[in-house]
Amino acid sequence: MLNAEKKTCKYNEQLCKYYEQFRVYADRILALSNDSLEKTVNVALALCLVCAVLVSIATVALRPLQGYNKALDMKKNILDVAGLLEEGTDIDQAFAERIESKIVDLKTGDYVDNINVDEYDQRKAAKDPAQNELIPVEKDIASIRQKAKYTKVFLVKKGDQLQSIILPINGYGLWSTMYGFLALEADAQTVQSINLYDQGETPGLGGEVVNPNWRALWKGKKVYSDKGEVALTLVKGGVDSSRPDSVYKVDGLAGATLTSRGVSNLIQYWMGAEGFATYLNKIRTNG
Ligand SMILES: Cc1cc2nc3c(=O)[nH]c(=O)nc-3n(C[C@H](O)[C@H](O)[C@H](O)COP(=O)(O)O)c2cc1C
Repeated sequence: MLNAEKKTCKYNEQLCKYYEQFRVYADRILALSNDSLEKTVNVALALCLVCAVLVSIATVALRPLQGYNKALDMKKNILDVAGLLEEGTDIDQAFAERIESKIVDLKTGDYVDNINVDEYDQRKAAKDPAQNELIPVEKDIASIRQKAKYTKVFLVKKGDQLQSIILPINGYGLWSTMYGFLALEADAQTVQSINLYDQGETPGLGGEVVNPNWRALWKGKKVYSDKGEVALTLVKGGVDSSRPDSVYKVDGLAGATLTSRGVSNLIQYWMGAEGFATYLNKIRTNG
């Protein structure tokens, strides 16, 4: 130890000087009575410093793991809405095998190839003036104010065969902006599932958007009417299944009319001309 100290002094004279000064200071403080104010303050400061260093190291060291877990969670949400999530599913493997991630230009409905899809953060892009678009109030049905010009979509494939299209959606409920995915079958018209995975509505009321029984009501519903308009909407009081238009209707959430309206609005917006309508039209036409 002594040798090591000498070595440090040999190569880092200035550091050694500081270290010596620190030792003299520390010895003086430690020699003080435990009741002395100077000792109490110094010990408290030293403890704070040690804790701050430990927390900083933990934050920096855990950052890659946090990023991985965030990405894993998103893959899980996508597999869930695609109906590919079962107990014990290897999320990374299932995602890599079955899901193709793409970026779409919402205006043209074309895929964009010059952006790295794995690194693209759509939520960040929506807030970045260089990458977003402000939505005029009269068109902002989903009350989101801004959106990214380019958006991710996820194609579920079996071999070369397209099975479903997963679209990110968001819109304001009663208390919060709800973020989720809507999965459509390959006809770009029939709903497979919805997953509003991030929302701050009241548990038991608007928060019932995550209830599997309510989510199951969406399966098989159609988005567009014969005229090509967005017809899918939530209805208060329940859907009358004997009516021919029931294929466009989903039960609203009991006691949560405002959240239900928010869900209807976000579907109206994202499936409409300002959202994915151009892209979905191209899928229907070109396959
Ligand atoms: C504490 C509290 C929390 C509420 N949370 C929600 C909610 O998350 N979503 C919602 O639509 N309505 C919520 N409501 C109810 C709304 O204020 C409003 O009464 C309701 O949307 C009307 O729905 P109804 O016509 O189906 O009763 C909440 C009310 C209270 C008092």
